Amino acid sequence: MMRALIFLSLLPSIALANEPFGDAELGKVKSPSCIFCHGVDGAATNPSYPNIKGQNAQYLFQSMKDYQNGNRQGPLAEMMKAQLSRLNDDDLKDIAAYFSSQQ
Ligand code: HEC
Repeated sequence: MMRALIFLSLLPSIALANEPFGDAELGKVKSPSCIFCHGVDGAATNPSYPNIKGQNAQYLFQSMKDYQNGNRQGPLAEMMKAQLSRLNDDDLKDIAAYFSSQQ
């Protein structure tokens, strides 16, 4: 029973992985403030900030949702939550697509 539940809870994310994910061109336009820390292409400007260049788009989207939902916590997570407060799911997908597409 437990195993079946775990399997079912993984299904939505597997389905999502096959969908085209966001619009990278729009994502670039929607992320002007992010570059101060994450760099224009997602290579961090400071070693205490994460590189997001070339990261999986779905992972980036989920991490940003986690900040918005409060599932990631801590002073820097609070800061990131504030950074993302004006962005909706489509914005996050576009931004995820942009940084993911950087090589
Ligand atoms: C003031 C610096 C700063 C700004 C501006 C900033 N970030 Fe962040 N970002 C961070 C830091 C620090 C973390 C790690 C926070 C933590 O979880 O402890 C982070 C984490 C992230 C992560 C998760 C990375 C991972 O590997 O899990 C993503 C995605 C992200 N930021 C995207 C963005 C986007 C998109 C914007 C613009 C809307 C933005 N950030 C603006 C500093 C910044």
